Amino acid sequence: MSEEETVPFLVANKKELIEAKRTSITVGDRVIVVIHHQGVFYAMDAHCYHAGGSLLNGDIEEIDNKLCIVCPKHKYKISLAEGEGIYNASNPKDKDKPPCWLSKGIKQRVHKVTEVDGNIYVTLSKTPGWIESDYYQTEKGRAELKKA
Ligand code: FES
Repeated sequence: MSEEETVPFLVANKKELIEAKRTSITVGDRVIVVIHHQGVFYAMDAHCYHAGGSLLNGDIEEIDNKLCIVCPKHKYKISLAEGEGIYNASNPKDKDKPPCWLSKGIKQRVHKVTEVDGNIYVTLSKTPGWIESDYYQTEKGRAELKKA
């Protein structure tokens, strides 16, 4: 990650982003989706950690008290705030057991959103190591995927 990619990156004017609801931007070779939902901005890698589906048009649902984006490709659920993979661990054969949502841990890299003078900035996450969504975001990640 270059030095320019770790400083706040101007996305756009706040008002424009609220109207758009979803915006995608490219920082370095990483595509980020910026989402405005219920008065809060979120930013995360735009390609789903599962198989690279675009999250730009994913529905947003509240699951187990967490706002999650649902990937349109295979319906994986990812928490907006943390990038946590959430899955339904219910047993469809056991009708008496209530639905049970569990976490797979952090799967999607989320980025910091800040507002300065009516403009929205994104600062890329510096969390070390590979997060699964990294494989679909960068040249290095794509090269790693080809090796696998
Ligand atoms: Fe997102 Fe499969 S690519 S759920």
